[in-house]
This record gives sequence, C-alpha cells and structure tokens, in this order.
Amino acid sequence: MTARTPRQFFKPLAAGAPEPYRELPIKLERMIHFVPPHIEKVRAKVPGMADAADVVLANLEDAIPADAKEAARAGAIEMAGMVDWQAKGTGFWSRVNPLNSPWFIDDVTELVMKAGDQLDVLMIPKVEGPFDIHYCDQLLAQLEAKAGLTRPILLHAILETAEGVARVEEIALASPRMQGISLGPADLAASRKMKTTRVGGGHPFYRVIDDPNEDGSPRATAQQDPWHYTVARMVDACGMAGIKPFYGPFGDIADLDACEQQFRNTFLMGCVGTWSLHPNQIAIAKKVFSPDPDEVKFARRIMDALPGGRGVAMLDGKMQDDATWKQAKVICDLADLVSAKDPELAAAYSA
Ligand code: GLV
Ligand code: MG
Repeated sequence: MTARTPRQFFKPLAAGAPEPYRELPIKLERMIHFVPPHIEKVRAKVPGMADAADVVLANLEDAIPADAKEAARAGAIEMAGMVDWQAKGTGFWSRVNPLNSPWFIDDVTELVMKAGDQLDVLMIPKVEGPFDIHYCDQLLAQLEAKAGLTRPILLHAILETAEGVARVEEIALASPRMQGISLGPADLAASRKMKTTRVGGGHPFYRVIDDPNEDGSPRATAQQDPWHYTVARMVDACGMAGIKPFYGPFGDIADLDACEQQFRNTFLMGCVGTWSLHPNQIAIAKKVFSPDPDEVKFARRIMDALPGGRGVAMLDGKMQDDATWKQAKVICDLADLVSAKDPELAAAYSA
C-alpha cells in the first residue's frame, strides 16, 4: 500500500498546519503570467499585470540565470507585498527551482515564511512521481505551521519528463494540495529525445500525407499536433483527481496565430488555462480560455430545454440529452465565472 488511507489523506501533515482543502477554491485561471522577478523594471509593472492577468507567477527556475537566483527570490517576496493579492482575487504563484537543485529549499522556505499569506500556489518543475509531491507536501506543512498560516498553499506540477508522464495519474492523486498540472513541452521534448528545438506548437516535419494522386499531382499534407497524446493523458489524470489541467509555454512570441491555435486546441481538449510569457499572450489566453458567446447562448438553450438535466430534446436539428446537458453545464459554469470578473464578456454572454 503506497497511498495514505482515506482517513489520513485530509489530515494536516504537521501540528498547527492548516487543514487541507477538500475542494479546490473556485478560481478563474485562464492565464498564468510569468514574471522574471530579478528585473526591477519588470517588477515595477506588477500592479498592472495583477489587473490584466488571472494569475501572476514569480519565476525562479529556468530563464533565471544562476547568478540571479537570489535576486529573483528577493524580487518574488517583494512582488508578494506589491498587491494585496488575496483581497484583489488575482492569483499569486511562484515557480521554484527543481527538487534536485541547491536553491529549492531556500526558495520554498523563504517564500512561505516571508510571503506565505499572499502565496496561492507553488509550481514545482520536473516532477517525476508522487514521491516528489509527498516531499513538498510535508515540507509545506512544516513551514505553514511555523509561519502560522491559516490557509494551505497549493501545489502545481509541471509535466515535463518522460518519468512524470508515465506517472501522471499518481502525481495528480498524490496530495489534497494538488491544484493542477501544466504541460512543459520544452523540457519534455528534451527528456523524450524528441527532435525539435521548438517550445510547443506543431512542427513542419510532423504531418500526415494523402495517398498518391493517380495523375501524379502534389499530395495534400497537413501538420499534426505532437502534443495531443500528452495533453489528453494529462487532462484525464486531472479530471480523475478533480484538479485542473493547463497548457504551458508557447515559445514563439511573434507567432500569435500559432499561439492562439495551440491554446485553442488544449482549451477544447479540457485545459482551463495556459502560461503567458508576454503581454500579447495574456490577450490571446483571455480570448481562447473564455467560452465563445455563441457557444454560451446555445449551451444555455440546452440547459433550459432539459430542466434538471433529464430527458431528450431537439435544438436546431441537434439531439440533446443528459450528456449534452452536462457538456452545456461545463460551458455555462465557466461563463458565470468569467462574467464575475469581466463585465464586457458578461454583457456578450447575456446579449
Ligand atoms: C516548461 O517549463 C517547459 O519546459 O516547457
Ligand atoms: Mg521546463
């Protein structure tokens, strides 16, 4: 038996630590906006980012040079005090360095001790199995107790190693602290030895081709999505565990169309949000991860046509039943969440 028993699962792991959540707090998390906290000029823009994004994340891991790790950590703690995140309702997260790095322990300790009351989620990179989550879980409980926190800090794993993908279900179920999982296409490509230098998106060499034409004319081909399998598996693992799946980074900042398509594919497959690496990508994520007003109107019609979700009806020639009522509810619930934050979309949904 490797998992905690049902009676133990929701007990705090340290005396004086807050009770774990039984249900995740209901939050709109369409984009997790990445900030390099060691750069003062960027830090100055944090209050504006807190208005624009659903979640702002202080990044301490990759993309932060080794000689700036401590400055980044100090910058993250400063960011925690720049906005009253809890009152405002914008998520405040940090991506710490990996468990096998010399920085992890100080990242977590200082963030919890100095900024724990503002911190919603710690993003843990390169998670390879439930054992990594158990370690973070126990450490967080000890630190929460020491800091006198009253609200548990949640954990978010990046799915970016072949080992992690092989154990994604166990990772999703490892702790009541698990908030969600993001795809990390750059590290995952490296870990799997995929032959690409791209960060997310398609690849011109990864495609299907039509059969030969009798007249010898050129055969139609189309790029395929190399991330389909991993995203699908991640979505199922998260769905099973009652946590949230996210797409991750899209590296080609200038290719807004490809970014939008990548985000949209993962939204349709079940992801609730994505990372944004540039303000341009905040706008794309907002558009993609909020339901389309026409879809919302149709979903509301389905819900009205089948009160209580029972029975059968035809709407515009399309069959509706218990299952489509549940599909419609996913869209309507998301529209309600978006409406509470975004008056423009609220108006579009009720027009
Ligand atoms: C993100 O961390 C990635 O490796 O893609
Ligand atoms: Mg990575």
